[in-house]
Amino acid sequence: MFSKQTGIDLYSFFSNDTLMKAVISVGGSVIAPTLSQEKFVEYAEVIKELAKENTLLIVTGGGKAARDYIRAARSMGASEAVCDLIGIALSRVNARLLISALSSAAFQDIPHDYREAETAMSSRKVVVMGGVAPGQTTDAVSAILSEYVQTDLLVIATSVDGVYTADPYINKSAVKLDEVTPGELVKIVMSEEMKAGAKTVIDPLAAKIIERSKISAVVVDGREPRILLDVIAGKRVGTRIVH
Ligand code: UTP
Repeated sequence: MFSKQTGIDLYSFFSNDTLMKAVISVGGSVIAPTLSQEKFVEYAEVIKELAKENTLLIVTGGGKAARDYIRAARSMGASEAVCDLIGIALSRVNARLLISALSSAAFQDIPHDYREAETAMSSRKVVVMGGVAPGQTTDAVSAILSEYVQTDLLVIATSVDGVYTADPYINKSAVKLDEVTPGELVKIVMSEEMKAGAKTVIDPLAAKIIERSKISAVVVDGREPRILLDVIAGKRVGTRIVH
């Protein structure tokens, strides 16, 4: 895989153990499947390990809590934009929990936009943020952040083991893809509905951003946080987005 952003072949780059700048999107459904500290602590351990050698920016999702709050708001007639703001608030609660678990390894403020995130990077600590604006999900935030700070890699840690030809929870004959082009990815995800709290393997806006900036990206099953070690070590896990 070749990163146009850096001009570096990604897999030889990995194996050299060189410093890497990466954005990691950690879905709320993987870091907070229930309200418990367990996955936050596990993620913090792995992130601290990787942060010794790499510059990391983490974007947390809102998960089940976001969807529960959005459902309650929608049932009272709240607009989709208001529901999105609720989702953003919950994603920032998860960011705050991860910052707590990371303790002094993390930058202690949550950036509310990309410029703030870039400024926070100068602390040389792990930067953790949630959503930024209605009409998207934290996958899109991760992709735009990756574009903004020009990372070598974007990792999307979600609750499926990669990109399938269709939603594997709905369509049992769906097949997992080891590699996908951004165009194919856009086609797969555009067939899904876009509403506050909706779930697709990756948000269509994120897929479009990955396509336009030729971002080196990989979608992995983040329910086991140690998979991040495999990703950064260059092991071929999940689905790679190839340009
Ligand atoms: P996410 O969908 O990104 O988090 O944000 P998630 O639910 O954790 O993702 P999964 O389940 O792990 O894959 C939750 C909701 O917050 C709003 C959207 O409504 C989104 O569905 N949101 C989030 C925004 O409107 N803007 C943002 O920048 C981020």
